[in-house]
Amino acid sequence: MTQPLPLILDVDTGIDDAMALLYAAASPDAELVAVTCVAGNVPGEQVAANTLAVLELAGRGDVEVALGRESPLLRPLKTAEDTHGPRGIGYAVLPAARARVSARSGVDLIAEEARRRPGELTLVTLGPLTNLAAALQVEPRLPRLLRRVYVMGGAFRVQGNTTPAAEWNMQVDPEAAWMIYRAWATALAADPTIPRPVVLGLDVTERSPIRPDHVIRLARLARLAGGRLDDSIARADGNEPFLPAVPVAGNPMVRFVADALRFYFEFHAKWDGFYGAHIHDPMVVAAALDPALARTQAVFVDVETGSGPAGAMTVADFRGLTGKPPNVEVATELDGAEFLDRWVTRVGALALALYPPDAG
Ligand code: RIB
Ligand code: CA
Repeated sequence: MTQPLPLILDVDTGIDDAMALLYAAASPDAELVAVTCVAGNVPGEQVAANTLAVLELAGRGDVEVALGRESPLLRPLKTAEDTHGPRGIGYAVLPAARARVSARSGVDLIAEEARRRPGELTLVTLGPLTNLAAALQVEPRLPRLLRRVYVMGGAFRVQGNTTPAAEWNMQVDPEAAWMIYRAWATALAADPTIPRPVVLGLDVTERSPIRPDHVIRLARLARLAGGRLDDSIARADGNEPFLPAVPVAGNPMVRFVADALRFYFEFHAKWDGFYGAHIHDPMVVAAALDPALARTQAVFVDVETGSGPAGAMTVADFRGLTGKPPNVEVATELDGAEFLDRWVTRVGALALALYPPDAG
């Protein structure tokens, strides 16, 4: 195996961010250098608490977790407890982590680590781009210092999920997103060899939802047997139980996934008409670890920062009408089935290794 890929994840832990943290912890091809937290799905301090707790659950309480910006660059913070639950992890409950948040800010961590390991670090942003924008102000050389940036965000040929035009991460902080796209356009104009950020928008992250049967497979990989059907994860509306034949209480990681995703499934059932969930964030980690999972197109993208109906829209110039050179690689395809198989297989193996059934 080649050397594990050094990663910094920037998260607004939420449910799918948590699934991304589990995937990174379960991936031998990832070197999880640090995790930076940004306000988004829930307030910043809750993001940090969730992130510390999920990493501890995944056996990675050693990873540095640093809190970055707790509000967007200019706008008041908007959060999404309706989507991710009152604390951001659905119905799940986790013990408070023993580890404490880092003494340095997430913004300083990104700048300092990029300087310390020039050309080595891949930054994966899974929330609003506020931390990366602030880090650019601290260290304008980031486009050259970072090995690559992967972004979850935007909607390029599809509707938004927050407004008809805007995807959530862009909507929370459009000014930050605008800064990032412009910064890489400027850096690339000076040095075309700089790797363009890879951006996975709803175009690819909303094509392959995770469903109850994936969680059942996860539970079985963790060799959950015996025990009682943990009816706390049955659907709140009393309809078909979420995991009809698999008790999950016996494995804390499977229990966490089941309880977190059940909230997400109910949200998607209400708003999208299916009992499953788009787990956007782990798809981006998977693509960072294995670029062959996604196909991309080099495109010039700008971000609308006005307050009209197109506010926070990621405007992609697929036809080259602006005459501006591409500043990002927009993902146009992603092998969703392969991603889900890897997610279940890797997280299931980690759940079994950390919490074997005979551990009592
Ligand atoms: O639009 C999806 C994105 O917004 C995901 O990163 C999700 O966690 C939320 O932050
Ligand atoms: Ca997120």
